[in-house]
Amino acid sequence: MKALLFLVCLAPLLRLGWRAFHAALGANPVQTVQFQTGLWALNLLLVTLAITPLVKLTGKSALNKYRRMLGVFSYFYALLHFLTYLVLDKFFDFHEIWKDVAKRLWITAGFSCFILLTPLALTSTDGMIRRLGKNWGLLHRLIYPAAILGVVHFLWLVKKDRTAPLEYAAALAVILGARFVLKASDFRR
Ligand code: HEM
Repeated sequence: MKALLFLVCLAPLLRLGWRAFHAALGANPVQTVQFQTGLWALNLLLVTLAITPLVKLTGKSALNKYRRMLGVFSYFYALLHFLTYLVLDKFFDFHEIWKDVAKRLWITAGFSCFILLTPLALTSTDGMIRRLGKNWGLLHRLIYPAAILGVVHFLWLVKKDRTAPLEYAAALAVILGARFVLKASDFRR
């Protein structure tokens, strides 16, 4: 199952590679890569957050085994998303990037989300979990503001039809709401 999930998580990247190889990334290839990597970073972040309430509701604790892989893949796509922006969009122009981060609020939100996810990815190894002990759980609470900032980034960058980002906002509200209610009621199946 883990190997299968690994392939599923890798599929969006393989598909992008396939489309790039066949020159089928559309009129604006950089934007296509940015959209796809951003979407998959967010998709996997929400799925990672949904694991705990799903385990509580279904009693299937085996699902916990997949949480780390999903979280690390979310960061992997966020990193690709950032690198696309850094290398293909801004050509390492750090002055321009800094201006963007400081002036465009939707970039500020995306950048903050990425910064918050970085320590989570770096501390996802068994060794770091052991070394950090209780603090690991505290640190990993950063996933909540990170997910909110990821959705806000999406909401603010879309100017016309906000249906998709609003659907993500609704999904996040349901997941966070479920986590909160299940925790508060100490629900166990
Ligand atoms: C590292 C900082 C980040 C930068 C500089 C950045 C920048 C961008 C840019 C330039 C776009 C394309 C906007 C357009 O052309 O209209 C975009 C779209 C997007 N980004 Fe980010 N982003 C960052 C972090 C993130 C993170 C961490 C996530 C998710 C966890 C994310 C999720 C998205 C989504 C969902 C889209 C829209 C995809 C679509 O419309 O299909 N971004 N971002």
